[in-house]
Amino acid sequence: MWNFDEVISRENSNCIKYDMREELFGRADVIPMWVADMDFKTPSFIIEALRERLDHELLGYSYRPDQYFSSLTRWISERHGWNVKREWIEFSPGVVPALNICTLAYTGPGDEIIIQPPVYTPFHSAVKDHGRKLLFNNLLETERGWTMDHEGLRKLITPATRMIILSNPHNPVGRAWRKDELTELVNICYDNGIIILSDEIHSDLVMPGFSHVPVASLSAKAASITVTCMAPSKTFNLAGLSTSSMIISDPMLMEKYRKTLVGLHLHLGNIFGNVASVAAYTHGHKWLEELMRYVKGNVDLVTGFCREHLPMIKPVPPEATYMIWLDCRDMDMSGQALQRFFVDRAGIGMNEGSRFGPGGEGFMRMNVACPRSVVEQALKQIESEINK
Ligand SMILES: Cc1ncc(COP(=O)(O)O)c(C=O)c1O
Repeated sequence: MWNFDEVISRENSNCIKYDMREELFGRADVIPMWVADMDFKTPSFIIEALRERLDHELLGYSYRPDQYFSSLTRWISERHGWNVKREWIEFSPGVVPALNICTLAYTGPGDEIIIQPPVYTPFHSAVKDHGRKLLFNNLLETERGWTMDHEGLRKLITPATRMIILSNPHNPVGRAWRKDELTELVNICYDNGIIILSDEIHSDLVMPGFSHVPVASLSAKAASITVTCMAPSKTFNLAGLSTSSMIISDPMLMEKYRKTLVGLHLHLGNIFGNVASVAAYTHGHKWLEELMRYVKGNVDLVTGFCREHLPMIKPVPPEATYMIWLDCRDMDMSGQALQRFFVDRAGIGMNEGSRFGPGGEGFMRMNVACPRSVVEQALKQIESEINK
């Protein structure tokens, strides 16, 4: 029903993914497989809702309607089995802003905040930019894939540790954390008075056979220390509308969040974000299921192709997200050399692994939320350069 094969030109639309290639990669013609932004049209049920709102032709200050809350709570209940109350929901003008707001709300200068690299780069800056101390609890690479190091975490914590920022599911390694892994994390954090800031922006993008576990849904204990970020932006390609939601059931944690948000005057949001969010969460189930089937097809294409034609590149199949973590260590190049190889020779713009912190060296992150023909072309270009 939806045509994910359609190739749509995005050039000259002030689009970061395409129109900043020259600046970021040094050439404007790389196939862009970097930033987490999809090349699929935002679905028509969202575009129509936005058009209908525009027809009113008045765009003054607005507030979030009841449907903003009811569509979100229904979505979370139906997709993730978590019953969220309206009073637990607050706004954020994006998840990265939320990470920064929470750093300000819950910690002070010099406090320690833990992240688990390799992890999304703005996790690092949300700590460092505010003069907090960044601690790394590196993920472990095991025979069963990437895991959390619970023992390492226990040892790392000091009396100055206030918060851990969790990527759930994890960007870039693509893990959809299991209940047992998250329960252990909750136990450690609860015992040490540590807040879990759980970035669940990729929670809807789980592969068939996997599920998303919201940390706060695990138990009353988990909910009492967890602040959750959710958004329709990755799921429905709405990042340009700067609209996401926080779910905080603990009244003290909510009060501190709200005070900081309002203190910065970031609480109003915008009309289009509200309208799009309601439409997405009300009508989005079928579209999302088709999207994930298509993305899974792209993931399978990359893994199969690498196995057959590019054995020195070993993709880590994601359990969630539309990003593939490519293990390129057998190419035996430094991070910078890998990036140059893919950009200058193969003509592909990806994210170089060491940008995500320790453990990322020798990896590249590939975004496959694009038409299959684009993935096929990228693989051909890589193959012809590697075989030269
Ligand atoms: C883990 C994670 N958090 C947050 C974001 C961005 O959130 P926002 O655009 O709402 O600031 C991304 C985008 O790639 C992401 O991967």
